[in-house]
Amino acid sequence: MSDFTIDKATQHFAELIKSQLARVDRMKSGQDWVEYSLLKPIIIGFCWGDGIGPIISQETERVLQVILADEIKSNKVQFRTIEGLTIENRAKHLKAIPDNVLEELKACHVILKAPTTTPEKGGPYPNIESANVAMRRELDLFANVRPVKVPKEGIDWVFFRENTEGEYVLGSKGLMVSDDAAFDFKIITRQGSERIIRMAFDYAKKNSIGNVTVVTKANVVKTTDGLFLEVAGQVAKEYPGISWEGWYIDIMTAKLIDPKRRTQFRVLVMPNLYGDILTDEAAEIQGGVGTAGSANIGKRYAMFEAIHGSAPRMIEEGRGKYADPCSLIKAAGMMLNHIGFVEKANKLEKALEICTQFEKKLEITGRDTGVTGREFCDYILETVQSPDIEKKYRSYLG
Ligand code: IPM
Ligand code: MG
Repeated sequence: MSDFTIDKATQHFAELIKSQLARVDRMKSGQDWVEYSLLKPIIIGFCWGDGIGPIISQETERVLQVILADEIKSNKVQFRTIEGLTIENRAKHLKAIPDNVLEELKACHVILKAPTTTPEKGGPYPNIESANVAMRRELDLFANVRPVKVPKEGIDWVFFRENTEGEYVLGSKGLMVSDDAAFDFKIITRQGSERIIRMAFDYAKKNSIGNVTVVTKANVVKTTDGLFLEVAGQVAKEYPGISWEGWYIDIMTAKLIDPKRRTQFRVLVMPNLYGDILTDEAAEIQGGVGTAGSANIGKRYAMFEAIHGSAPRMIEEGRGKYADPCSLIKAAGMMLNHIGFVEKANKLEKALEICTQFEKKLEITGRDTGVTGREFCDYILETVQSPDIEKKYRSYLG
């Protein structure tokens, strides 16, 4: 390989180091958490996305309109639709998030986001960065919190996935140094690890959960994952009542399907890519990726989304109306909880569990063998508004 190529690659790497060290400085300078109870109105931005996105967004908005009827009337809460986070518009501007859309997002306090198409190399769209990844980075949404619950099997997991580092943050900055050799870059920082690990321990403490599981591949990916694990050990010392254990990602994925062992995991924290993979597996155990919600939390902003993609195949095959809105509705519940409507959030969560795991009066299958998303949403609304929802829920728990 010519010296020129190596010089160019070295230069590229130098730029990455500089930008990442600047990010570390920003993290060090800190910022206070936003206090939602002081805001009037709290502005909720809706991004309707691509594929099945607009269909499941419509249903989710319908649920929120009912649950937040009083707050909308008194202007405690305001909904705002953000156009432009579609693959067509993003491709037109050749940007993961076009500038004016980013401005609109920043004018909201929290965002509810339907799935957006993530282009890949060789696909029909220009290979721009994922809108999710860009939004998580631009709004510094460092914690991806993904709960998965199957009460009748004793499963109650909360995953804390680091959301702004790992392979992701530099995922569009890789380098083909020759026709034959491709490099990508992974970054893990002390500050980035500390803030997510601390959040997991704080959650455990607040909910009286006695153990935290830290997932890495530090035996092989020694430097980056090694740092994550080292920071975990340091943070853990500040929580004497909570024990912690390091697990490797390979055996962790295996143990999630071991019915005896898996119920002992409660709070799990991990770098970005492992969290991506593990949470899809966990969601599948809960009943499919269509059933899980995801909170992307930062100090200033927060974004809530379904954990699945835009399912273009469902649209191509004319099955859009059978798309499952539960994942986005669940995300909406997490949003309600985050902005301070804890009771409403609990009620919605219970209604979702009743409809999808216990009573199951209707079934959604993604095709005409089950009901449509609209019909299922009506069922959720009927359940959430029913005066004896608490009684019903308790009776299922036995
Ligand atoms: C998720 C998704 C995203 C991710 C994609 C769409 C970029 O899979 O939220 O888990 O990998 O983070
Ligand atoms: Mg994923």
